[in-house]
Amino acid sequence: MFNEFQLKMLNREASLPKNSPSTIIEHLNIKDGMVVGDIGSGGGYFACEFSKKVGKEGQVYAIDVKEKSLDYITRNLEKEGITNVKTILAQPHGIDLPEKVDLFFLRNVFHHLPEPAEYFKSIGRFLKDNGKIAIIDYEKQKFSFTSIFGHHTSFNVLLDIMERAGFYPLEKHDFLQDQLFVIFAKKGD
Ligand SMILES: C[S@@+](CC[C@H](N)C(=O)[O-])C[C@H]1O[C@@H](n2cnc3c(N)ncnc32)[C@H](O)[C@@H]1O
Repeated sequence: MFNEFQLKMLNREASLPKNSPSTIIEHLNIKDGMVVGDIGSGGGYFACEFSKKVGKEGQVYAIDVKEKSLDYITRNLEKEGITNVKTILAQPHGIDLPEKVDLFFLRNVFHHLPEPAEYFKSIGRFLKDNGKIAIIDYEKQKFSFTSIFGHHTSFNVLLDIMERAGFYPLEKHDFLQDQLFVIFAKKGD
């Protein structure tokens, strides 16, 4: 369970220039009026950044299984006067949303999902036509903290799981150190 300090640290880590948050956001191509779901939103750094991109007509859903994370995000939203981000409490195996989204974004969350192929099959119903899923996760490294604790995903495993869930890789970006960044689209779109 994350406490307030850990959530602050998650946001700090997400915002560090060495983790290229601005370049990540650029590559997501988020436009005014879009609906974006940030699954595993943690401390809410990306959800708040997305809120600037979607503007007043758009909507961001900060989605997490931890109520403490969502409470922390809600307090920050109130402090910052951000009105186009809603928090959604998720179950480990799936989500429920009031509308379809243009983009799901998952950063460092994929390796937490208990049955990822089933998960993405199920959330596909909340994707608009031509909607996309952007996944960032650690790649397996020989000597790294994240790999020792199994917090990683290999590119081939990711492709295989997403293929089984009905998605194909549309874009693969290689500018992140030690992390995969792949954007998927629904087969048939
Ligand atoms: C390592 S943090 C990443 C936070 C944020 N995405 C970031 O980049 O700063 C992983 C987050 O995923 C959440 N999480 C874990 N399993 C989840 C699931 N099945 N559905 C939604 N969120 C989940 C955790 O509660 C945590 O907030």
